[in-house]
Order: sequence, then structure tokens, then C-alpha cells
Amino acid sequence: DTISIAVICGSLRQGSFNAAIAREFSTLAPTGISFHPLDGMESIPHYNADIQSQGCPAIVLDWAEIIRSSDAVVFVTPEYNYSIPGVLKNALDWLSRLSPPPFSGKPVAIQTASVGMLGGARAQYHLRQVLLYLDALVLNKPEIMIADAASKISPQGELTDDTTRRLIAEQLAAL
Ligand code: FNR
Repeated sequence: DTISIAVICGSLRQGSFNAAIAREFSTLAPTGISFHPLDGMESIPHYNADIQSQGCPAIVLDWAEIIRSSDAVVFVTPEYNYSIPGVLKNALDWLSRLSPPPFSGKPVAIQTASVGMLGGARAQYHLRQVLLYLDALVLNKPEIMIADAASKISPQGELTDDTTRRLIAEQLAAL
């Protein structure tokens, strides 16, 4: 049986290091896992209860359905100003308004990549806090904080650092 994992990337940037890492998952995961990137985050409007009362945006409903039908979710995101990017928080705010709650009881793993030396560590604990309220089951270990990402990902977007590749493989197997 195939295990399906939804992937949420917190960066909208074309040359994103985090998106590059997400693209490597299928080469690093155990066999029998399929990955489903959740696209279109840039088109999710700012959360507004007035919009919600006229019907949730289709993209939010689509994301929720993919999350509900997936066996697990992986977040791979930058850290912005010691927290998660606003676009990612906005997407989670929308998803939190839906019933049945898409993240409730869902196994989740978190990865962050940063050009800085702490690898986005501070954003991870903010994301964990939000996911606690959303009732997700966040994997504790191994933690993946990819520091100095520019030296570990080639200009073509390949993850060239063997230690990081091994760590990601371990986390996906644990998830
Ligand atoms: C950053 N960056 C950053 N890095 C970090 O380690 N801690 C931080 O608090 C921040 N803050 C921050 C704020 C904003 C607004 C930007 C645009 C950037 C740098 C960040 O790690 C770098 O831009 C990464 O390359 C972003 O990830 P992607 O887009 O390459 O996936």
C-alpha cells in the first residue's frame, strides 16, 4: 500500500531553498511513499471572517481535503523574524476554521532551512505551538534545522550535503 504525505512549503520564492529540499523527498524517503505538494499558497487571501461567511476559498477547501486524505504532513519552511512566514500562518488560520479539522490527529514533521546558522530553529517552536492548538501529532525527533542552506543546495536546487540527506531520510522514515 502506498503512504501519501502532503507537503507544505512556507516560501513562495522561485529559488527557495526550502522548496528545493521538498523536491528531494521522493529520492530520500523509504519506498512506497508518495508526496503531494500543496501548491498555490500565494493565492490564499488574507484571512477574513467576512470572506469565510460567504464560503471558504476553493484553494483552502482543496488543501483541507488533501490533508485529510493524506497519512501525514511535512512542513518545510523558512524562518522570518524568528517566526514562521505570514503566508504560512495565514494558510493555517484558514485551515483551522474548517470542519472536520484537517490536522486533528494527523502525524506531522517539521523541517526548516535558513541561510543563517540556527537553521530556522526559532520558527520551529512557533510552528509546533500553532500545531498543538490544531491538534496535530508533531514528530519530536529527529529535528531538522538546515543551517547555512546556501552551502548545501546547489544553484540547480540539488541538496548536496550528505549529512542533511541522511537526516531527512531518517525523519521521513520515523514519520
Ligand atoms: C529572513 N531570513 C531569516 N533567517 C533566519 O535564520 N532567521 C530569521 O529570523 C530570518 N528572518 C528573515 C525575514 C525575512 C522577511 C526574510 C525575507 C528572510 C533569511 C532566510 O533564512 C532566507 O531568506 C532563506 O533563504 C529563506 O528561505 P527560502 O525562501 O530560500 O526557502
